[in-house]
Amino acid sequence: MNNEHRGFTSNIGAILAAAGGAVGLGNIWRYPYMLGQNGGGAFLLVNMFFVLAIGIPLMMTEFVIGRRSQRNVVGAYKKLERKKGWATIGYFGILGAVLIYAFYSVVAGWTLNYIVMACSNQLSGLTPAEVSETFASFTSDSFWPVFYQLMFLILTALVITFGVQKGIEKVSKILMPVLFILLLLMCVRSLTLPGAKEGLGFLFHPDFSKLTGAGILGALGQSFFSLSLGMGAMVTYGSYIRKEDSLFKTSVWISVCDLMVAILAGVVIFPAVFSFGMDPAGGPQLVYVVLPNVFNNMPMGALFAAVFFVLLGIAALTSTISLQEIIVAFTVEELHWSRRKSSIISLLVIFAIGVFCTLSFGPLSDVKLLDRTIFDFFDLITASYLMPIGALAMTIFLGWFYPKVEVKDEITNGGTLKGSLFEVYYFILRYVAPLALIVIIISGIIG
Ligand code: PFF
Repeated sequence: MNNEHRGFTSNIGAILAAAGGAVGLGNIWRYPYMLGQNGGGAFLLVNMFFVLAIGIPLMMTEFVIGRRSQRNVVGAYKKLERKKGWATIGYFGILGAVLIYAFYSVVAGWTLNYIVMACSNQLSGLTPAEVSETFASFTSDSFWPVFYQLMFLILTALVITFGVQKGIEKVSKILMPVLFILLLLMCVRSLTLPGAKEGLGFLFHPDFSKLTGAGILGALGQSFFSLSLGMGAMVTYGSYIRKEDSLFKTSVWISVCDLMVAILAGVVIFPAVFSFGMDPAGGPQLVYVVLPNVFNNMPMGALFAAVFFVLLGIAALTSTISLQEIIVAFTVEELHWSRRKSSIISLLVIFAIGVFCTLSFGPLSDVKLLDRTIFDFFDLITASYLMPIGALAMTIFLGWFYPKVEVKDEITNGGTLKGSLFEVYYFILRYVAPLALIVIIISGIIG
């Protein structure tokens, strides 16, 4: 099949689509609260280091596997492996994508509800206690969160059915610039609040005394989750990148976008949080329970609340697209289903599993797996086990069981690019990344 027709039509299309996959709830919802709990700027610096030192090389690794094989995450290993068995990594990827999407779509669905509430002015004028109560009663309801989750799944599947170019690439080319504009708008609003300086100080002044070993591991785990590594999302998108594009530059751009959005989200959130005397270490509820109070206290707060939740919704959508595409690319190429059939069936499977995650905030809150709610359990097994184990297996495959000359050939586009950093990349691929991954996996098991 001609690559021009199979995948993205331009490098900017590839960058925006993959950056869309990377930039998500992880950046705007998870990053700020982790930063809040782990010494602000110290967490930022450590996370930045991990993104540059390990994240970018791992993203390149996924791209190499995808583009070299021109296949989905399972087909890629089947095509590249010299001895059978490596495709198991691909099946792990599919499993991980299903599980992540099942719990991720819960929080994605919440954004829809909050967009509706912000637009219909239901969030304004509430006291902090009422804001918390609204969040608790919404998330524990047995109908609305499920309804919004389903809406989000349908929206995602719709984009997927239009295909790689007319669906994924086109939507990313529109939504990613919109996301940046909305984010900058929110930054201006936040930075012009009285007391913004204190929030910026918290974000950019590293307090290493608050950074524990767990915080450092958290920063490492966050870099994997945020860059969507270890699940095959980047293998799948890598298979759509044109042969003439530089995988190194593409990975750098995506990672820079991802970091920038996380930092800008911090610039939006912390000045506002400090300006209204809220707690920066508010935890996972930071954006849903703390921020509405902030919006309530600022001029034109209802408008900015709506803008903020639209922003969060867009970030979530481009990521759910990448999650479902991992599965759809597999069923289309390996099982020869049509794109439409693949989208519908995968939607139904994810919904059937995801409902349990949603209801674990309400009627199923007493159901515990390893002492955790269903939602937390899915989060734990994907972020702490499936993603790092998948990434580790991938580095071992490409670094130790695939010929170096072929890796170099793919990274230098058949020798047409200089590839001056290739040896550095290869060293990280073989030694540094696997070691870091083993540390994450072991600490996940112990802690
Ligand atoms: N990177 C996404 C985020 O930060 O929200 C989450 C994600 C998407 C993880 C796709 C894994 C994945 F395959």
